[in-house]
Amino acid sequence: MKLKELESILQDCEVFDEPKIQFEQYPTTPHLAARMLYTADTVYNDIEDKSIGDFGSGCGILSIAANILGAGVGFDIDPDAIKIAQENSDQFEVCIDFVNTDLLHAKLERFQGKLDTIIMNPPFGTKNNKGIDMLMLKKAIDIANHSVYSLHKSSTREHIMKKAKEWGVSFEVVAELKFDVPMMYKFHKKKNVEIAVDFLRFEKAE
Ligand SMILES: C[S@@+](CC[C@H](N)C(=O)[O-])C[C@H]1O[C@@H](n2cnc3c(N)ncnc32)[C@H](O)[C@@H]1O
Repeated sequence: MKLKELESILQDCEVFDEPKIQFEQYPTTPHLAARMLYTADTVYNDIEDKSIGDFGSGCGILSIAANILGAGVGFDIDPDAIKIAQENSDQFEVCIDFVNTDLLHAKLERFQGKLDTIIMNPPFGTKNNKGIDMLMLKKAIDIANHSVYSLHKSSTREHIMKKAKEWGVSFEVVAELKFDVPMMYKFHKKKNVEIAVDFLRFEKAE
């Protein structure tokens, strides 16, 4: 499938109708989601014929993109987001298992060894969840068989690079992106804010 075709399909994905700031719910745009999955597939061969996990799947855009190109399962703490993700996947006629779980506390034993690639846009830990981005990243690295793709604020790059070394995984900045945050929450003052974000890839040693 061509990149433009994938992006165009993802335009129909519904987003959070009542986003919850305590879970830092910010949807990935179809533009970014398509590029993330397309790159993981065509450059690194990490999607097609692979089993894929989407950590903090929200309304499911990354899970759906993964499923269009391969097969995937989504995980999110919020049952309302899971409901929208399920409706989205029904609309796209893709079969995705969405698991309602708190990734910080779940053991996920039944998924250990079952997910080749994990992809995610985690909460950045900017509200009351300081450190959640790194906790979710570590969990993904522990569970994935082969590789993890994740979005992080570019300002945290040095810290993440050090952690990757400590955890014994390779680290690569696949792309530097602008993450578009529309006016979604009451405390937002501007119509639109762009955040500098790194699209990162981690690979586990064989
Ligand atoms: C930035 S949003 C990204 C949503 C979606 N993946 C996307 O790309 O549009 C982060 C997601 O992580 C979920 N989340 C936050 N804390 C979580 C936790 N402890 N366990 C599982 N999911 C969590 C939120 O509900 C939200 O859907």
